[in-house]
Amino acid sequence: MAVLRSSLDTTTEEYAQNRKVQEAAIAALDEQLEATIAGGGAKYMQRHRDRGKLPVRERLELLLDPDSPFLELSPLAAWGTGFTVGASILTGIGVVSGVECVVIGHEPTARGGAMNPYSLRKTLRALEIARLNRLPVINLVESGGADLPTQAELFVPAGRIFHELTELSGLGIPTVALVFGNSTAGGAYVPGMCDYAVLVDRGAKVFLGGPPLVKMATGEEADDEALGGAEMHSRVSGLSDYFAVDEHDAIRIGREIMTRVNWRKLGPAPAMDPAAPLYDPDEILGILPPGSKVPFDPREILARTVDGSEFDEYKPLYGTSLVTGWARIHGYPVGVLANHRGVLFSEEAKKASEFIMLANQTDTPLIFLQNTTGYMVGAEYEQGGIIKDGAKMINAVTNSTVPHLTINMASSFGAGNYGMSGRAYDPRLMFAWPSAKLAVMGAAQLAGVMSIVGKSSAEAQGKPFDDEADAKRTEAIEAQIEEESHAFYITARLYDDGIIDPRDTRTVLGMSLSAVHNQTVQGRRGYGVFRM
Ligand code: COA
Repeated sequence: MAVLRSSLDTTTEEYAQNRKVQEAAIAALDEQLEATIAGGGAKYMQRHRDRGKLPVRERLELLLDPDSPFLELSPLAAWGTGFTVGASILTGIGVVSGVECVVIGHEPTARGGAMNPYSLRKTLRALEIARLNRLPVINLVESGGADLPTQAELFVPAGRIFHELTELSGLGIPTVALVFGNSTAGGAYVPGMCDYAVLVDRGAKVFLGGPPLVKMATGEEADDEALGGAEMHSRVSGLSDYFAVDEHDAIRIGREIMTRVNWRKLGPAPAMDPAAPLYDPDEILGILPPGSKVPFDPREILARTVDGSEFDEYKPLYGTSLVTGWARIHGYPVGVLANHRGVLFSEEAKKASEFIMLANQTDTPLIFLQNTTGYMVGAEYEQGGIIKDGAKMINAVTNSTVPHLTINMASSFGAGNYGMSGRAYDPRLMFAWPSAKLAVMGAAQLAGVMSIVGKSSAEAQGKPFDDEADAKRTEAIEAQIEEESHAFYITARLYDDGIIDPRDTRTVLGMSLSAVHNQTVQGRRGYGVFRM
């Protein structure tokens, strides 16, 4: 296979400047990750510990195999919304007793671990990832149920959590609930629907109605233990399969359960000793230009991402604004589609469509590296059939059945987001780099379009046009779109599965590829390779 040769000069002023901008973006990300780790804050964390309980991240650490990596998902969910950063839930993919699992852990220090609309989306996404990739699920349960002030937004869709858990079980994908604390009302159905329920003595409270509600409803006087304690559920109701004497015991039992489920991946494991890239991934920071619209050669990124920097480029002389080719990552064969000069023309769209179909013919997962301003506009291109060609590409992406992994490296604008397998096109996992932007179009363009539309409308109505007011409006719209295009804003709303340090791209893709290979990787048969 051809080996990529880097032409990066790490001694230039430009390289140093680029690094500085990326380091600042990563520092801002790290600051938010710290806030996520802090959960509900020092006061509530201390109270939790004083009650003899482990924080959710310590529960996770004890659950995972020692020194194994954890791919955390959407750690910045709910950022900037008024809810705790992270959305009072911890989700991710980790290895428990040698089995790759999705872990979903409530953050009991943030509003009692209550579920708000963002925690709900994050939970449902984690369950979807489990279903699509055939990953067992372990729930670390301690939650006050629905966030009551926002119940209107979540009560109906929250029913889906139990639907998903049941469906997983129906698909033969194991589900486990380790119940450390509150799991009341609707929450009681988490251990209720899981294949295995482990309840912690004097900690777990699993009931449909607590003492005050029962008193109100029927007049009965009953305490927590009689209504939903671990001992009662282990000896009397039978809801509990395992009685854990304390939190450590529950985690031990959870790890043991995973040794008994006889789990086998349907695809191969990662290569034990894959060839590292020839170039240092750390240098990616100096490659990325500061503005989201400045093009850069994605081969420089691939040279620092794929095994041995080996890349067999497909159609290198045609549709050069999009780079396509074959490589391996941690031993897994992949097809890569990476934007080069941002705009997608007809040639790029057709090349992408063919390439996606070839990957399906050979059951090869696809990696989409986004840096796109969308499909080309203008009379020449419309007359050249850009809509038809973009539609071919979107058709190929939609009907592709091999796993897609998407990374927004710098920009994802317009229908380019769709063609390059954005969220609506079901990538199995999707991440962004911290300085990436995503929107229907760039902020300045959008504000400019609104101004032109306003001027035309005033003219049509014979009204005078106030240029000064227009300038102010344009500035305000531009600022608003700029804010809404920011990677934190996008990830807060679960439009991706998290922001990653660009230097971790190879590792994240390797873990993602390993996760998707729990399921059979099978391309679409029947749409064949038709030349266009
Ligand atoms: N919705 C919104 N906020 C909630 C909440 C919920 N379901 N549960 C707790 N909170 C808030 C509390 O108001 C409190 O806020 P404050 O510190 O600003 O006053 C904070 O979260 C911590 O709650 P606290 O009761 O002090 O924590 P705890 O660890 O002692 O108890 C619970 C946790 C979950 C047992 C308890 O808060 C509770 O019973 N909540 C209501 C549970 C419920 O009925 N849920 C509806 C199920 S559908």
